[in-house]
Amino acid sequence: MHENLNKIKSLEGAPRIVKNFLNAEEIKKFLSLYSALPITVNNLKQKVIKKRWISGFEKELEKILRDRIKLEIGDFIMDNINERNGTESLGLFQESFKPIGLHVDGGFDLKNTIYKQTLLPLSDQGETIIFKNRYYGHSTSFTKKVSDLEENSVENFKKGKNIRSSDHLEMYGSKPFDKENYEKYLKHEDIDNLKGLEVEFIYKWKLGDLFIFDRTHLHCSSCNITSKKIGLATFTKK
Ligand SMILES: [Fe+2]
Repeated sequence: MHENLNKIKSLEGAPRIVKNFLNAEEIKKFLSLYSALPITVNNLKQKVIKKRWISGFEKELEKILRDRIKLEIGDFIMDNINERNGTESLGLFQESFKPIGLHVDGGFDLKNTIYKQTLLPLSDQGETIIFKNRYYGHSTSFTKKVSDLEENSVENFKKGKNIRSSDHLEMYGSKPFDKENYEKYLKHEDIDNLKGLEVEFIYKWKLGDLFIFDRTHLHCSSCNITSKKIGLATFTKK
């Protein structure tokens, strides 16, 4: 569990969409930045390409991102996975062709006061499902699949991979997940893996928006991806 639990909880709030965070010209610039960055991860199984945005690469866009996020959430410190040499990362671009499963982005250091995470959509396609349920531990993927749980290792954690856990099945009660929401948004998950969860917010991606939510929320993408989606995820702490 996170050490500064009371502080973390005091900073929590409702998920929120910032309209017109970027204009059309700026969206183009962010897409060019995405194309220019080298690939960090190309995961064929999860069908996702990840590119880490390193500080100093496109300073003008870096300033836009930092200044405008600050206007929305106040003072913050970036809390992304940095380069091995210590160079700061401003976030992770993810181009996904397959929905991402249930997880939390609590980070990798329980001493940190985790704060907000932001999603900057760079495609109009995509939906993010935020659950009411919260978790106060490391970055964790929640699964009941034994083959996934077997991926846990100290090496993977050190590399910045989420912990695989089924603890959520004991934490949020035994109420079956709502069938309508399941059929509409979450068919990529096992419905029993969503036991006890309730949807808080469904964010439909829109170019130009910024979506902000607490890092303690369980969340996942919806099953509705017809081709691919691109977004920039940035994590913060206090
Ligand atoms: Fe996430």
